[in-house]
Amino acid sequence: MSEDETMDGSLSAESIAAGSGAPGSDAKAPGADDPGAGRIPSYWEYLRVEELLSLQGGVEGDEAQLSDHEVLFVVVHQVYELWFKLVLRELSTARDLMNQDPVPDQQLSGAAAALRRVREILDHCASHFRVMETLSTRDFLDFRDKLLPASGFQSAQLREVEVLLGLEDDKRIHLGWEGSYMAALKSHDGSPSPAYERVMKRRADGISLREAVDGWLYRTPIRASSPGDDGDAEVVRAFVDDFLAAQRDEIDITLGLAANQARGDQERAQLRERYEKGVAEARAFLLAEDVADAEQPRRARIRAALLFIESYRELPLLAWPREVVDQIVALEQAFVIFRQRHARMVEREIGRRVGTGGSAGVDYLDETALRYRIFGDFWAVRTILVRKEAVPTLAEGEFYGFRFGG
Ligand code: HEM
Repeated sequence: MSEDETMDGSLSAESIAAGSGAPGSDAKAPGADDPGAGRIPSYWEYLRVEELLSLQGGVEGDEAQLSDHEVLFVVVHQVYELWFKLVLRELSTARDLMNQDPVPDQQLSGAAAALRRVREILDHCASHFRVMETLSTRDFLDFRDKLLPASGFQSAQLREVEVLLGLEDDKRIHLGWEGSYMAALKSHDGSPSPAYERVMKRRADGISLREAVDGWLYRTPIRASSPGDDGDAEVVRAFVDDFLAAQRDEIDITLGLAANQARGDQERAQLRERYEKGVAEARAFLLAEDVADAEQPRRARIRAALLFIESYRELPLLAWPREVVDQIVALEQAFVIFRQRHARMVEREIGRRVGTGGSAGVDYLDETALRYRIFGDFWAVRTILVRKEAVPTLAEGEFYGFRFGG
């Protein structure tokens, strides 16, 4: 070991200050003026490897007392918590970008990139359950009871992800009593735990990604008209009416083909009824008939904007908005698959018994996968989109970059 090296082999602060950090160079070490200067980090210091490896002791606080199966259980959960940490950072970034008024066009690619990263992480999280599935039911049962009443239901970060995305309290499935998801985060004596504080802080931390994106969609120019412009409501309504007429024509074509293939009059009548229902539902959706009167104009404009962006996505000014919309759908799809995959893993591990957190177990988890949709409008628009050739011609194409068509 040279005089400049410390016990663990890294270079000392003095050696860096003296310029001996880079052999043959008298240049100041990079970052020498920074607060962190004076240290050339090693892999183990930078990543705090020793600290990290000392955190798998479970309830006993001593890894030596745990079976390989239990250490696997601990490590897999910890890895998930780290992925959730990254998800929260990226979602906050995307939320902050989309929460600007206006959102600068050149920043949409940044938002799309953050959302894409979240989607990738969630995809990875879903496949990661395979590692957990190497734990057999019997091996899990060996240590499962000592976990009671601890459960993934107490993962504060997962709750933060839901809050940040915009899952509303009244949509939540409770474990038998109202507000149970927050109650589960309290300490045993009912006092607020760090997990509870963490979620409370997130709830108070401004608006969700859904709200930010809704605001941006609401302001989207439709046929070159923005909210506040003279006659905006009429312009938006004309777009919706033209689109519904196009959709009607498309459905008539498809229905005609389907009816020709039908086996008998009864099936033909059923098909007609089903397709007609689709037409009525598209209209009700676009006019936001399902929301309270006071919210209808805003919700209707948001839905029209989604339809507009998806329909004219080739136009330069709409290409990045469409990418953002698409990444949100991809992200939510990955989240739903993550929930479904977790439920299938749980079914394989413990069958349909009660969860350690006290829920109905797999039934509860399947319900969350089915019902927790935060970006429902983004999905619903897909039901009514039509082929590019059938989209109403856009006279204002130049406003969005170049003339639409061809
Ligand atoms: C043997 C492995 C596992 C079993 C048997 C299991 C079982 C369960 C059950 C039954 C629930 C419902 C709540 C309850 O009553 O406890 C639950 C919730 C949850 N688990 Fe797991 N789990 C396992 C592994 C994991 C892993 C590796 C993660 C990774 C983060 C995880 C994350 C969660 C989360 C976030 C919830 C809350 C879901 C919600 O309320 O929407 N679980 N788990």
